[in-house]
Amino acid sequence: MSTPRIVLAYSGGLDTSVAIQWMKEHRGVEVVACAVDVGQGIDDLDEIRQRALDCGAVESVVVDAKQEFAADFIAPALKANAMYMGKYPLVSALSRPLIVKHMVEVARSTGAAGVAHGATGKGNDQVRFEVGTMCLAPDLEAMAPIRDWALTRDAAIDYAEQRGIPIPTMTKQSPYSIDENAWGRTAECGILEDPWAAPPEDVYERTVSVADAPDEPEEVVLAFEQGLPVSIDGRSLPLEELVAEIDRRAGAHGVGRIDMIEDRLVGIKSREIYECPGAITLLTAHRDLEDLCLEQELAEHKRAEEGRYAQLIYNGLWWGPLKSALDAFIDEANSYVNGEVRVQLYKGSATVVGRRSEQHGLYTYEMATYDAEDAFDQSLAEGFVKLWGLPLKTWAAKAQAAGRTL
Ligand code: ARG
Repeated sequence: MSTPRIVLAYSGGLDTSVAIQWMKEHRGVEVVACAVDVGQGIDDLDEIRQRALDCGAVESVVVDAKQEFAADFIAPALKANAMYMGKYPLVSALSRPLIVKHMVEVARSTGAAGVAHGATGKGNDQVRFEVGTMCLAPDLEAMAPIRDWALTRDAAIDYAEQRGIPIPTMTKQSPYSIDENAWGRTAECGILEDPWAAPPEDVYERTVSVADAPDEPEEVVLAFEQGLPVSIDGRSLPLEELVAEIDRRAGAHGVGRIDMIEDRLVGIKSREIYECPGAITLLTAHRDLEDLCLEQELAEHKRAEEGRYAQLIYNGLWWGPLKSALDAFIDEANSYVNGEVRVQLYKGSATVVGRRSEQHGLYTYEMATYDAEDAFDQSLAEGFVKLWGLPLKTWAAKAQAAGRTL
């Protein structure tokens, strides 16, 4: 019988580079490396493909999934205003289901018996990789070499040096654990594990500090169709390019730094630093345009579902039925979200300073104005207020008669 093959989600970093050899030695499998470009800033796809081979992979595949990540993962998250704990735009949580999808495809085309990931036993990523695999390919085994091995960083470096595994440059210096894609950048570990310690400036890569941000504000006009941004300042761009451009421009003003204590699915509270300039700017603009275009009841119900939607993505349930059922609702609501938003980028903030929607804007000047054009019939308000307050009035009379002080 030939040696079984396992497809490893390969990042090019230290852990997954040493995992290739470890899986051969300790699990008796051959490793097919699969790196997925989700906009983490890989300069050279060939270089990463070759690196996996140099580390001992029998085959190495690199998938350019930047466009797919934007269209199928960023887009629904933006339409849902998805922010875990109201703060975190789900950067890593969004990329995992896509990586699983590609690993499974590679497993099918190479006849592999399973997939593997480089996540530890303490985080959410293991859940997202493995539950994703259970959904897309329940027959495939899922391995977690880094979790099984439980090695420290120094031990991983020693292991690599003993076996002549080329260690990615940077590895020795960087004190942080980084994950990155088109929707943002995450940093954990090192000094960040002290939640009282302010993050050092060297954690950040995509944003300038507020102190170094330009003294002049910059305005961008974002046009949305069906809830998705289609142009910046009148220039149409495909979503993946638009996200990259707004990320750059907002980052240059220090927008999108997030320092938070996060509730992991495995029960740990962790300290996380995120940089999401593009995501924060687009989410801010999108939410504002919804306020203009969505009817009140629909808007309120959507807001109530958004936290749930973010949570299910965070918790690795991307491929489940609740996600697609909620998507149907969210898409329907977003069919109204067409228009433009003016956003001012300035000293760490993305602030909406104007919005309009010819087609679906529900702001009606004649209703809102206090000027002469006022068409709102104020006489109707008298009866409305009386009926609105009737239940409380009835209750308050009884309560006070019974001696309750209000
Ligand atoms: N805490 C974040 C999440 O669960 C970020 C995880 C980053 N992953 C990493 N391997 N550094 O989504």
